[in-house]
Amino acid sequence: DKEEVASKKHNANPLKLTESSGILYPYYFGDDPHVKLKNIKNIQSKTGDIFLCSYPKSGTHWIMEMVNMLVSGSTEHPQKFNFLDPMIICDQVLDSVPCPRIFQSHLRFNQLPASFLKRKGKIIYILRNPKDISVSLYHFVQKEGRIKYTGKWDEFFQLFVNGKVGYSSWFDHVASWEREKEKGRHPIHFVFYEDLKEDAVRELDRINKFLSLNHPNSFLQSVAECSTFTKMRKQKYLYHPFPAEVMDENYVDFLFRKGTVGDWRTLFSEEQNMQLEEVYETEMFDSKLRFSYG
Ligand code: A3P
Repeated sequence: DKEEVASKKHNANPLKLTESSGILYPYYFGDDPHVKLKNIKNIQSKTGDIFLCSYPKSGTHWIMEMVNMLVSGSTEHPQKFNFLDPMIICDQVLDSVPCPRIFQSHLRFNQLPASFLKRKGKIIYILRNPKDISVSLYHFVQKEGRIKYTGKWDEFFQLFVNGKVGYSSWFDHVASWEREKEKGRHPIHFVFYEDLKEDAVRELDRINKFLSLNHPNSFLQSVAECSTFTKMRKQKYLYHPFPAEVMDENYVDFLFRKGTVGDWRTLFSEEQNMQLEEVYETEMFDSKLRFSYG
């Protein structure tokens, strides 16, 4: 009967993913992600466009808040909403957005708009250690209104290390971005979540230089103060693009859960820790990146 079919379907795809060319995507890419991916590829880039890229749960909203303040030169809530998630936005809307435009994306480098890559627009890629990401993502998929994942941590952990989650493998995502950065053909700046936690002003200064902005240290200090976990949580973050059925009034808990380094210790078993480290060794064999785990 219908219920049984629905339940089987749910068990086969508990994270409600969709697939295209071997990569898994969240449900909002639709049954055929290829269509959305093609639209994104064809977005017409403008001078000064910036992309903030990441694997989900790496601190995307944090970096968005900071870069928005840097670009607008103000720590007040900017008048203009210029965070554009290519997943949700359409071309007509994009055209009316004042420049410089800030885009946010979880896609891989070669999936970004062709005209943006051609004009060598600036990209900031934020990274976070995979153990904390897996735990953060686990809490996220349980709360996300259209996913409502009901599996146990142990099951989710296997999905994560095997890349059976939205945007597929963390290892593959990060390694592919690192390779692109290493090639040195495109302006890509890496920021680590753990480094931001350690010294936000230092990291802001690097971004300041990367974006050729000349903000004084005092301004960077206020940006850091205005974008702490507590501040952002209290402000009831205004920019989230999710519709009400996905993020209800509890969305604050959903985007701002704990905001710490090392929360993986609350869920990881010794075996899981070893398994992840083994996978890391294999998949990140060529990588020069070093993560801190708290
Ligand atoms: P936790 O679930 O570990 O708390 P993204 O924005 O990419 O979805 O990342 C979400 C993660 O970043 C969540 O991690 C969230 O709490 C954390 N985060 C959001 N804003 C933050 C801030 N201002 N400072 C530190 N961490 C923040």
